[in-house]
Amino acid sequence: MQEMLRVEKLKMHFGGLKAIDGLDLVVHDKETLGIIGPNGAGKTTLFNCICGVYKPTDGKIFLKDEEVQGKEPFEMARKGVARTFQISKPLRDISILDNVVAALGINEYTGFGSILKKSHKKEIVDKALEIIERTGLKEFKDKKAREVSLGYLRRLEIARALAINPLLIMLDEPCAGLSNFAINEVIDLVMQLKSEGKTIVLIEHNLPISMKVCDRLAVLNFGQKIAEGTPKEIQANPQVIEAYLGEEDDDHVNA
Ligand SMILES: Nc1ncnc2c1ncn2[C@@H]1O[C@H](COP(=O)(O)OP(=O)(O)O)[C@@H](O)[C@H]1O
Ligand SMILES: [Mg+2]
Repeated sequence: MQEMLRVEKLKMHFGGLKAIDGLDLVVHDKETLGIIGPNGAGKTTLFNCICGVYKPTDGKIFLKDEEVQGKEPFEMARKGVARTFQISKPLRDISILDNVVAALGINEYTGFGSILKKSHKKEIVDKALEIIERTGLKEFKDKKAREVSLGYLRRLEIARALAINPLLIMLDEPCAGLSNFAINEVIDLVMQLKSEGKTIVLIEHNLPISMKVCDRLAVLNFGQKIAEGTPKEIQANPQVIEAYLGEEDDDHVNA
């Protein structure tokens, strides 16, 4: 199996706090890897290291064969690493369509201010409409981002991620805070991306969701990987049960 991403002995320390503490991880081409673990385990920090928001304290990150640790977020986006945020960050005062147009424009133009003005070429708008259709946002395309509910914003984030035609899609708790109905819509969308052969890393605190969607799971605790395997293997792992399943279940709507 080909590797899409390899993380080697990764460390991300904030002063004395070891948010990531010697992590090894591989994401294979076309797989959906779930990252689970309690709050504060280092899941979002791992994403931030991979997509260039944080410069790791130590360790290496390879995208295919290229060493990429320490690169800037825009470079990682250009290389095909797309991520969504635990807290949605759309451009709130422009339409859903323009949000996707702007994300498409990042591939073509530098300088964010001019992207929107320059991006309304027919082929870019057509491409944006196709992504909007795929992500089930067609009805809402003319609404401003701030006017739609969280479930649609989460799908907009996925739409914006798809706009860079990514090699790797990283989703940070796309279902957090959603109603069961909206959760199912997001799950359906992730399953659809999976069936299209996308390579996905999904942070998902909710175990039944990650078990349903993911081919493999990696369990983080205190910045380290404490287990890795198929959902079945993980469910039966005593260390995981102790670290993860035993915790209170009411604290996962976090920042
Ligand atoms: N920029 C930062 N500065 C200081 N501490 C941070 C920073 N980002 C994350 N942390 C800390 O790193 C730890 C892991 O956080 P995070 O990766 O957000 O966990 P998770 O996503 O698994 O809940 C936490 O203790 C958090 O407070
Ligand atoms: Mg997090």
